Amino acid sequence: MSLLQSELTYRSSRWQHRNKLPILTKKERIIVDAIKREGIYITNLTDLGLTSTPKMLNAAYSLLPSMGKTNYSTAAENPPEIYIVTDLPSFYDWGKEQSILNIIENYIGLPVAYHGVHLRKDFANQHQFQTLLWHRDIEDRRVLKIIIYLNDVEEKHGPFEYVPISFTAKSKLNYYRIQGKIKNLGGIDDQTLNNIIPKSAWKSCPGAAGTVIFADTRRILHHGTLRTEERSTLFFVYTANPPKRPELCAHYWNNDYPRPNFNKEVNEVKVETTSV
Ligand SMILES: [Fe+2]
Repeated sequence: MSLLQSELTYRSSRWQHRNKLPILTKKERIIVDAIKREGIYITNLTDLGLTSTPKMLNAAYSLLPSMGKTNYSTAAENPPEIYIVTDLPSFYDWGKEQSILNIIENYIGLPVAYHGVHLRKDFANQHQFQTLLWHRDIEDRRVLKIIIYLNDVEEKHGPFEYVPISFTAKSKLNYYRIQGKIKNLGGIDDQTLNNIIPKSAWKSCPGAAGTVIFADTRRILHHGTLRTEERSTLFFVYTANPPKRPELCAHYWNNDYPRPNFNKEVNEVKVETTSV
């Protein structure tokens, strides 16, 4: 009953907020419509044309050499190295550019919580585990992540990969078969998914450095493909404010991951809430 109540409140809040949504440019409207339709939109930093992009890229490329210095080749599982960069204006400010917030608010349909930013390096692995397994994110009803590739990403670097919504809609039996397995196992491997939805239907997202992926990682079944070479990315994360599961959004600003030792930036840290 409380689930039903919560769903009704959510729908009513979205209905009430519909007249308060920011006005979009034609370019922004195309992005929002695509995410609504397909759960994903892929563009690049040049086309987005945001003024804070050069500063954000400078900061990212000056931090990346300090990541991934351990010899990873022999370990059975190489989890990613992640820096929380939410406190650093060079990163945080890119994610709160007005154009980005307008897109996200129109997609989510409610006031937005901007949880923060991870700078991330993913390494070669031979077996699927954690986010290499197919899964859906569960922080909220709509979870919008912006992923920026910081190096050219080909098959060998393990691109973001997803299953088009048409194959996993709630009206299809496959949705429940997949959800049942994810619930039991936390995520499913390629072989298991291939038995339900053939690999030929999966969509890989390779792209040059500067590729920007807007994805609702709640709605689309997704994972990072197994890779033989490392991949560097930025993840910006947004939900409605408040999200359904705020405790799952904390790792963008708490101490679950280290922060970089980046003195010039750290000196300009300003105190902000994580919500906008
Ligand atoms: Fe995910």
